[in-house]
Amino acid sequence: MACIGIFDSGCGGLSVYRELIKVLPLEQYHYFSDNAHCPYGEKTALYIQRRARFITEFLLDKGADIIVVACNTATAAAIATLRAEYPDVPFVGMEPAVKPAALGTRSGVIGVLATAGTLKGSKYLNTRGIYESDVRIVEHVGQGFVELVERGILEGPEAEAVVRASLQPLLDQGADTIVLGCTHYPFLQPLIERLCGPSVRVIDPAPAVARQTVKVLEQRGVPVGIGPFSVELHASGDPSSLNRLFASL
Ligand code: DGL
Repeated sequence: MACIGIFDSGCGGLSVYRELIKVLPLEQYHYFSDNAHCPYGEKTALYIQRRARFITEFLLDKGADIIVVACNTATAAAIATLRAEYPDVPFVGMEPAVKPAALGTRSGVIGVLATAGTLKGSKYLNTRGIYESDVRIVEHVGQGFVELVERGILEGPEAEAVVRASLQPLLDQGADTIVLGCTHYPFLQPLIERLCGPSVRVIDPAPAVARQTVKVLEQRGVPVGIGPFSVELHASGDPSSLNRLFASL
């Protein structure tokens, strides 16, 4: 049985957890929500690196064999530092799904929704550099999306107004594919898809991250699939939003 540590600035990483349990249903999970420090989106890289280090220590204490950084912003700011400081620990990170979007677009325009931290990170900028000669890539911060999800507001007039304000500029520029570049955003995916209409494809990278986790565990020779399954939720702040979203999965 593998022990899988997962962390995010809040409950968004549960969008990765729900994909992980599909491909790794018999493992032991520890999920850490850093909601006392959420959102990460506008914080400095140094601040996020300090938090990532603290959470890594916590998850290693719990016996984690692998750590899934289920946060695009923390991946952008801290995964290189974590890999340098913990060379024996496998880390799996997030990356906006620009590649499948670029391969699938018909209009030639793809829209990326992410936090400010992710959009200015070198990882994302490199990926964008690879594809922007073939497709036009337009971006927008999902302003207020993280806060909505943390408050458990996934539908209704308030959610609709907040989501529309960041989504519409991408649609207006001709995007026929929307990449969800923040792990909180898939919880708003039904709303996003409704506002986009049926001709627009919305991509959540979490299934690909879950498959990558399986691959890394196999490469490391960590036995999986033995069971029993268990999950523990941890939060640096009030755990109620995490518990609520978890219960709805
Ligand atoms: N779930 C985080 C991400 O994927 C949210 C960032 C934030 O806390 O602003 O980027």
